[in-house]
Amino acid sequence: MPYGCYLRQRVPATVGAMGETITFLGLESSCDDTAAAVVRLRDGQAEILSSVVAGQVALHADFGGVVPELAARAHVEKLDVCVEEALAQAGLALENMDGIAVTAGPGLIGGVMAGVMCAKGLAAGAGLPLVGVNHLAGHALTPRLTDGLAFPYLMLLVSGGHCQFLIVRGPEEFTRLGGTIDDAPGEAFDKTAKLLGLPQPGGPAVEAEARNGDPKRIAFPRPLLDRPGCDMSFSGLKTALLRARDAAMAEAGGLTRQDRADLCAGFQAAVADVLAEKSRRALRVLLADAGSHMEAIQTPYVNKTGQASAPVLAVAGGVAANSVIRAALERVCDEAGARFLAPPLRLCTDNAAMIAWAGIERFRLGARDGMELAARPRWPLDQNAAPMLGAGKRGAKA
Ligand code: KG4
Ligand code: ZN
Repeated sequence: MPYGCYLRQRVPATVGAMGETITFLGLESSCDDTAAAVVRLRDGQAEILSSVVAGQVALHADFGGVVPELAARAHVEKLDVCVEEALAQAGLALENMDGIAVTAGPGLIGGVMAGVMCAKGLAAGAGLPLVGVNHLAGHALTPRLTDGLAFPYLMLLVSGGHCQFLIVRGPEEFTRLGGTIDDAPGEAFDKTAKLLGLPQPGGPAVEAEARNGDPKRIAFPRPLLDRPGCDMSFSGLKTALLRARDAAMAEAGGLTRQDRADLCAGFQAAVADVLAEKSRRALRVLLADAGSHMEAIQTPYVNKTGQASAPVLAVAGGVAANSVIRAALERVCDEAGARFLAPPLRLCTDNAAMIAWAGIERFRLGARDGMELAARPRWPLDQNAAPMLGAGKRGAKA
């Protein structure tokens, strides 16, 4: 398979009505993955007909991070190839689509522009509706594509470029409860790997090292746990790691394998503790919020069959692959009587199926974008939330 992840699967989304069929082509190019996918909603069932992802890990390997200009050029080269591949794998042509969805932000602007321009060309050429999608909404709505999850639910988006808690109330209705004020956790894992001479992407390498390490030997801080709310900070962990590494080296004249494993385990435990405690708080807000709305008291966690269901914490983003972090979040959910939902990893990381799906959800609400659709480097999902600080190497945070 030339472009990595391909899947054809029926997923049990219970959105939409019997007799309703909507098929969308989705495009994604906001960071370092060029992706195209075809998703169909038919009789209340979502089906991913194809999902093609062309990653750029090798392209950026020598630079210690994503180089925006290189990324944009690679997107321009790969977008049409990915679209052809996605349509071919779905066994469909452009004229079988009901619309085209494209990530219109937030992200590295050159890449977002490449995707938006490609989508505009396809939509204009084939006479199809165009729907611009917020990349974060794509992640946030994925549990509806994979599990037909009913609104509202809590989403923890935790990747290389993003980290935030959202209450997802509708396809275009999000409440941001808090997020990182500096680095995203994936970025911190990647920097940790770099400081310890481990390969990129750093997350899986640090997790593997940590398996042989003692998380208690080296004390790491738990940033912002002493402050109320759901905001987080991860850049201090990197500084703590650097100091601990240098101290270990000064003491023994070098870094042993055991030192490295212990550093990884200590760092990972700190990230897991912070995410767990902030998730505990975010779940409390979700529950209090449901209780404070009269109409929600009758319907907050009642599914279509009328059965009451538990509140849900869903995750998305590459860091959700980490088994120690996952276990910590599962424990928090157990304690709170909530359900933990992690979509398959290939749908947690950047892909275009989530963009096609978010496009379908917006399309069903009547959303249509014209040729004036703009690419946006920043695009907060919750317009009422305070703006985020900083912009990491992975691009603007929202
Ligand atoms: O969602 P994602 O694929 O895309 C971007 O944010 O671009 O997330 C990638 C991030 C990387 O920083 C990577 O190091 C991290 O997710 N990651 C992990 C693990 N697997 C990937 N972090 C911790 N533990 C892992 N097992
Ligand atoms: Zn993403």
